[in-house]
Parts: sequence; structure tokens; C-alpha cells
Amino acid sequence: MPERIRHPLFRDRITSAEEAAAAIGPGMTVAMSGFTGAGYPKAVPQALAARVERANAAGERFRIKVLTGASTAPELDGALAKVEGMELRLPYQSDPAVRERINAGTLDYIDIHLSHVAQHAWFGFFGAIDVAVVEVAGIREDGSLIPSSSVGNNKTWLDQADKVILEVNAWQPAALDGMHDVYYGTALPPDRRPILIERPDDRIGEPSLRVDPDKVIAVVETHAPDRNSPFNPPDAASRQIAGHLLDFFSHEIARGRLTRSLLPLQSGVGNIANAVLGGLADGGYQGLTAYTEVIQDGMLALLKNGTLRMASATSFSLSPAGIEEFNAHVDFYRERILLRPQEISNHPEVIRRLGCIAMNGMIEADIYGNVNSTHIAGSRIMNGIGGSGDFARNGYLSVFMSPSTAKGGQVSGIVPMVSHVDHTEHDTMVLVTEQGLADLRGLSPRQRAKRVIDTCAHPDFRPMLQDYFDRACRDGHGLHTPHLLGEALSWHQRMVETGSMRTGPQG
Ligand code: COA
Repeated sequence: MPERIRHPLFRDRITSAEEAAAAIGPGMTVAMSGFTGAGYPKAVPQALAARVERANAAGERFRIKVLTGASTAPELDGALAKVEGMELRLPYQSDPAVRERINAGTLDYIDIHLSHVAQHAWFGFFGAIDVAVVEVAGIREDGSLIPSSSVGNNKTWLDQADKVILEVNAWQPAALDGMHDVYYGTALPPDRRPILIERPDDRIGEPSLRVDPDKVIAVVETHAPDRNSPFNPPDAASRQIAGHLLDFFSHEIARGRLTRSLLPLQSGVGNIANAVLGGLADGGYQGLTAYTEVIQDGMLALLKNGTLRMASATSFSLSPAGIEEFNAHVDFYRERILLRPQEISNHPEVIRRLGCIAMNGMIEADIYGNVNSTHIAGSRIMNGIGGSGDFARNGYLSVFMSPSTAKGGQVSGIVPMVSHVDHTEHDTMVLVTEQGLADLRGLSPRQRAKRVIDTCAHPDFRPMLQDYFDRACRDGHGLHTPHLLGEALSWHQRMVETGSMRTGPQG
């Protein structure tokens, strides 16, 4: 693969994944690339997992702390978790083996806002970073690195780590070159300067990553695909949720609060997000932009038909069909996509300035608009907060969406009190379920409760919520945000005990 590694010094450091992994020892803090299953190292973590397994078999304890951009894939998170090779993991994850261990209490997990990770590393909050393992698409003649399908925290990992291992993945399209905008102007308080992004397509950085060649101890060549989950067409509930949101946009345009080019979109990934993007494609919108985290299939379609003018993100998250489409028309997409470090894609200052429309999924919301994005019944982690808080608090609009029920209709997504708070009522402007959309802007807590119950709750749970609210308004300790504290989390307790929030024989 000589054309991918164009600097002689880096060519001299080419070695096997096993030899590279030998530089990582027990107790180390290892920062790895990777964001939503894109651009993560694919060979070294697996070689490391094999080492850990051998150490375990010999009765040694070999566990490391793993920092990433966001979720990775079975070859990294899965491989290390299955051999009990991680003692600490941060930030966002979505791997079943990792989740199982976090919830069993054998793996510590720190779930923080994605925009905070790099600066916390710079502040020294995570201690020293021993090794960075970073996937790149190539190494230029001048020794700079062509980023891969995600940028994430790579700039910070390469700067902060004592030693660097590079994986050069020839599977990544060479044409990624030129799509990145890596900003090197960050500083520590009190010396910070404004981040001068005034439009989503503003470039403020460099197309490649810098690395001190003296720190690079190994270069490993790979040819392996990203996780690339297949794309599922949106289901009925997702299409209904998207329909409510698109009606809301039309209403906002009619009221003169938005134009037909809306404001820069931020959208989570998954079924509902794809349905919303699909609806925008059919809705006669023109010249939209996205200032978001992830480019998924739906965004490529919007770019292709001209609905979306450009998209800024930190990562791709494409299906195999999406990759094929991207590769076939890479020159078209390169003109319209920018990938930035996640501290910039999720920067509160920029999100506030641009006025992003934040659209994210949730586990549950309560009648006052507090949102739980991460925990089942208050204690069991699902994935993590990701960038939802970066965008929800700072966006022009913050929208949270979910079907009104889960677990075959046994569990209500609208509850008296959320069992864990990721986004407070102060950060939630709009709640959407397949039942309807509750616009909570300008409403007091009791007004919000009435609207959420009437609009978003499933009819099977609506009378129970109304009954709770009525009694809370009668017997609550105060009437600003009325609650019955002894009962507020009883729905979750019932779910834990019976698998259902319903009362009566069906529960
Ligand atoms: N009570 C209990 N379980 C619930 C639930 C509820 N109220 N709501 C959802 N679940 C369960 C589902 O049953 C499913 O469980 P399973 O995997 O065992 O089948 C799981 O949670 C995921 O739910 P699903 O309906 O598949 O939702 P999703 O794929 O749309 O994801 C979130 C929803 C909230 C988990 C997801 O959006 C997320 O992780 N958000 C946080 C990060 C974020 O917002 N990122 C985007 C910005 S960058």
C-alpha cells in the first residue's frame, strides 16, 4: 500500500498489529479513534484483546482505560469487553458486551457530553494519556495524516498521548482527502478565542491532522470495513413522528419564525431520524444545511436531490448501500460535506450562533418535559447522552422524539417523573410521539403537563397520567410543579417488578 503511506519515516515504522499492541500495558490509558462505528482502529484492539486473554489465562490482571470519540464496533469495544480488558470506558458507547458489563458493575463508564471530552482531556481531568491508537486514511509526504471516516477526538488524542500507533486503512476511500476541517486554534481558559464559524460551510482549519513523528511508535496497515449497519426503512411510528414534526415546521414557517430553508439541522441516527430526513426530501424544502454529528444515509439522499446544500459533521454512519453511493459519487459529496473534530461539530458557541434545530431520540419524558435519554428504570444504561445535550441546550429549537410506548405497549414513554434526567425541562422545547407533538415553548410547568398528557401520551396511559396529575395538583407539596413524591417513580418500580407499567390484570 505504498501510495497510502507517503512519508519514509512512517514507512520505516510499519509493523504488525501484535507488535504494536505489545506497547500497551496493564493500567494504561489508551485513547482510540472512532465515532458511531466509523474510523475506529480495527486491528490493534483485537491483537490487544488476544494479549489480554492470554494474560487472564496466566492469572494476570490486564485491564486498560479506553477513551474514544463515541461508539465503535465489535472489533474494538466488543473484543476488549469480552475478555474483561477494560476497567474504564468513556464517552458514548452502544456495544452490547460493554453495556452488559457496565450494568453488571464490572466496567466503570463515564457518560459525558461529547463536546466536553477533548477539553476535559486538555484540562487534565482524565490524567495522562499513555497511547493513542488512531485510524487514518493515509499519511502525506509532509507527515500529516489524512483523517478517516470520522474525526472525533483524534486531534486531541494525537496531541496529548505520549505514544501514537497509527492504523492506515486502505479500505477507506482515498477520496476522503480534502473533506476534513481540523481546527488548531483551541486554547485553555482564560486564553480562549471565539470559534469563528458563522455558517455551517465555513472552513476554519486544515484538511489533515498533525502528529509529532517522534511519538509514532508503530504504523499498522489494514484493509477492513467500518461497522456499516444495514439501513432499515422507517416503521409506521417513525413516519408518524416525522409527519408531526414536518407539520410543525410548516406551522413555524407560516408564523414567520422559520423560512423554507429552516436552520441548520442536527439529527441523531436511527429510524426516526431517517424518517424525518425522508420527509424533508419530499416536503419541498430547498437549500437546507446540517450542522450535526453524523452523516447518515438520509443525508446523502437529501444532498443528492438538492434539498440539503451542505452538511457539517464529525463522522459518517452509513449502511453498505450508503457507502456504495458515497464511493460512486465521492467528488459530488466532497464538495458538500465537511468533517470536523467533535469539540467543534458539537461546540455550544457555534450551535447557539447558528441556531441549530436539534432533533434527538429519548427513552422517556415526563409530563413536565424532563427527558431521559440514557437509562432504563433509572439504573441500567442503554447507550449514553452522546451529543444530544450539546445540541438541545444550545439549539434554536430542541426536539425530543420517541414512540409513546415501548416493550410491546407495556411501558409508557411518558411518565409522571423521569427515572433519570439527561435534559431538564429547561432544555426541552418540543416533545413528539406518534400520538402528536407538544410545543412546550412559553408554557409554565402545569400548562406543559396538560399539553404533554393530551398530545403525546398513548391513550392507554393517558387516563393514568391525568389521574396522577389531578391528584398531584390537589395533594402535592407545592403547585408550581405538582408531584406526589411517594408515587412519582412507582410506574418504573412496577415495570421492574412485572415488566409492565400498566395496572390491573394486564399489567
Ligand atoms: N422503557 C424501557 N425501555 C425502553 C424505553 C422505555 N421507556 N424506551 C425504549 N426502550 C428500549 C427499547 O425497548 C429498546 O430495547 P431493546 O434494545 O432491548 O429492544 C431500546 O430501549 C432502544 O429503543 P429503540 O426504540 O430501539 O430506540 P432508538 O434506537 O430510537 O434509540 C435512544 C433511542 C434514546 C436509546 C437513542 O436515541 C440514544 O441512545 N440517544 C442518546 C444519544 C443521542 O441522543 N444521540 C444523538 C445525538 S448525537
